[in-house]
Amino acid sequence: MIYTPATTRQLAAETERLLPLAQSVPSCATANETESLRDVLRFHEYRYYVLNAPLLSDYEYDVLFRWLLSTEKEHPEWQVSNSPSLRVGSSLPVQFQSVPHLVPMLSLDNSYGAEDLIDFNRKVLELSSTSEVNYCVEPKFDGASISLIYENDQLIRATTRGDGVAGEEITQNIRQIRTIPLTASFSAFGIRQIEIRGEVMMSKKTFEDFNTSLMAAGLSPMANPRNAAAGSLRMKDDREVGRRNLEAFLYHISYVSFDAPADERQEQAVANGKELLATHSGSLSLLWQLGFRSPENEKKLFSSIQDVIRYCADAETTRDDLPYEIDGLVIKVNRIDQQEKLGMTSHHPRWAIAYKFKARQATTQLIGIEFQVGRTGAVTPVAKLSPVALAGVTVSSISVHNEDYIREKQLMIGDKVLIERAGDVIPQIVQTLTELRKGTEQPIVFPVTCPVCNSKLYKEPTEAVWRCINIECEAQVIEKIIHFVSKDAMDIKSLGEANVRKFYELGLLKDIPGIYTLDFHRISMLEGFGKKSTDNLRTAIEASKTQPLHRLIYGLGIRFVGETTAKTLANHVSHLLEYQKITQEDLLHLEDVGQKVAASIHAFFNNPANITMLETLEKLGVQLINTKKEATATGVLTGKSFLFTGTLSRLTRQKAEALAEAQGAVIASGVSAKLNYLIVGEDAGSKLEKAKKINSIHILSEDEFLQLVNADLSNQ
Ligand code: IVH
Repeated sequence: MIYTPATTRQLAAETERLLPLAQSVPSCATANETESLRDVLRFHEYRYYVLNAPLLSDYEYDVLFRWLLSTEKEHPEWQVSNSPSLRVGSSLPVQFQSVPHLVPMLSLDNSYGAEDLIDFNRKVLELSSTSEVNYCVEPKFDGASISLIYENDQLIRATTRGDGVAGEEITQNIRQIRTIPLTASFSAFGIRQIEIRGEVMMSKKTFEDFNTSLMAAGLSPMANPRNAAAGSLRMKDDREVGRRNLEAFLYHISYVSFDAPADERQEQAVANGKELLATHSGSLSLLWQLGFRSPENEKKLFSSIQDVIRYCADAETTRDDLPYEIDGLVIKVNRIDQQEKLGMTSHHPRWAIAYKFKARQATTQLIGIEFQVGRTGAVTPVAKLSPVALAGVTVSSISVHNEDYIREKQLMIGDKVLIERAGDVIPQIVQTLTELRKGTEQPIVFPVTCPVCNSKLYKEPTEAVWRCINIECEAQVIEKIIHFVSKDAMDIKSLGEANVRKFYELGLLKDIPGIYTLDFHRISMLEGFGKKSTDNLRTAIEASKTQPLHRLIYGLGIRFVGETTAKTLANHVSHLLEYQKITQEDLLHLEDVGQKVAASIHAFFNNPANITMLETLEKLGVQLINTKKEATATGVLTGKSFLFTGTLSRLTRQKAEALAEAQGAVIASGVSAKLNYLIVGEDAGSKLEKAKKINSIHILSEDEFLQLVNADLSNQ
């Protein structure tokens, strides 16, 4: 079938008709429905693999796919040779050269609950004719799959999955990924040639930073780390691939050939290799020993399916603790001889199954756009959606960032959209389902004036954002106060966002200094404000007056001044108003302060309105002096800069930073020649690599750091 807008609409409508049937009718499809089901599945494969623009969630695809499988099983006479059930994947996008895999790259069968797993276990026991099977369970990495071939210890070729039979050659790009060794001593295990499967990933943190930098450059953010990883692998410039901080997990050996041993030593090597490769868990150890990142530390062995089921249920709740995205677990028969006996279908091995976590994708409808004005005057379009359940929360609105993003996603009001929530990351639109348009959709019109104060909006030529530049704009004033009291700034808990809005509306609060002259008598008359909550509010406001200087600076919301720069600024002076006299050139000497940031800080402290505000705050009792500078002048780490990277095991990042700061240290935001100490936790990445190249940086483990600051954690 050729996919045109008309056939696409038709297939999408047919999908909508078949999906509820597949979900509710446990029996077979009719002969006609089976044919139509195949067309629908082929269409969705094409959308997923070729266009990279799925119209269905994985779960919905699976429901349809299973319906076809069970029908074909019941009615073998309806089977056709080109059924999607008999095929590995679909055709390839063209750009990169296509090369065949040594062994086809199969997919995995999916399970969603205990019943499916019990069923899987039953079949495994039946087909392997044993009563005992051990399972190895490991994460199902949600990235872009790759296949690597090593020959005589050298990486000679890397490919994407492609259609499963052949993939795109991406060796040059893969060579940029630091967790993939370019050479590995396979020969120590007698191995001459080996094909390894794995997944290229972008960690959640890297993904967030990547999206922040895309948006800062006026580009649109990516929907999820998987897309970011897959897109990175197809880039034409391999140096850019290197900058993306990709990682790779290798979890499967699909082909191996051994050297013909010439002497006893080599014979022993082959024997060792074969012994490890006799189990899946041993293969993971072998890869780990050779310097690959295999799920060696994440794997778990079980001898009963009930234990596997319990483990899967627990993992559903702990997935968010991992630094990267997983979309489930993979359960594999551990012994390779048993795997071989079980064999595979044309689609998946019978010795493995994926346990998929609850979907984090959903389709819904865009019902309108609201334009919100932020604290810097930036006007952000927010999409209002028909409420939809997504990974445990109901989503009814989602930021659509800026005008360019709306254009890129081709969004119109009334459109159906596919949304996704990746980990803790806020939901994003993956795709606008333009094929499902009915013709009644309305274009999104960007306002030319501020939706709050009506003044004209401006846009810098290099930016994608429209701004309201009226500093008295009500929306900006409110957002500034909300930021000032927020958790990472002055942390006035009792005065949250809702109260700020309420007090502003009632005329009780009109600017930041107003927080310190609130009329508590009037507040105590408000509904919901008893004596206790009024007292709490008063105490919290009072306590905020002595917050450390960096919190006040951050709370001022100076453009481009985040928490780290705020700390740098606080440490540099004894009193905040000293910044009135510090030139832009001097500011450039501070850690991580470039032209843009220096200009913004300078402008802030040269604006008389801001100085008046700071003086007023001081008169009202807010501390503008850097108490810490005096108190810690004799700390052992005074003046030394510290940076933490990787996952710490004994301390939270915050606690570790506080320990260093308590001794007078300054926390840096990146590795540079100015850095004195890098403290390295687990899975440290590019920062460590960079620091190793600078001789003057001391690289310490977490324990060494604790010794240095003399911290006793035994009673914590
Ligand atoms: S094993 C022959 N193990 O999930 C079986 N696959 O949805 C080879 N995946 O195509 C696959 N984590 O790209 C295996 N620990 C893991 C995995 C994993 C992610 C991917 C793989 C596969 C897809 C199936």
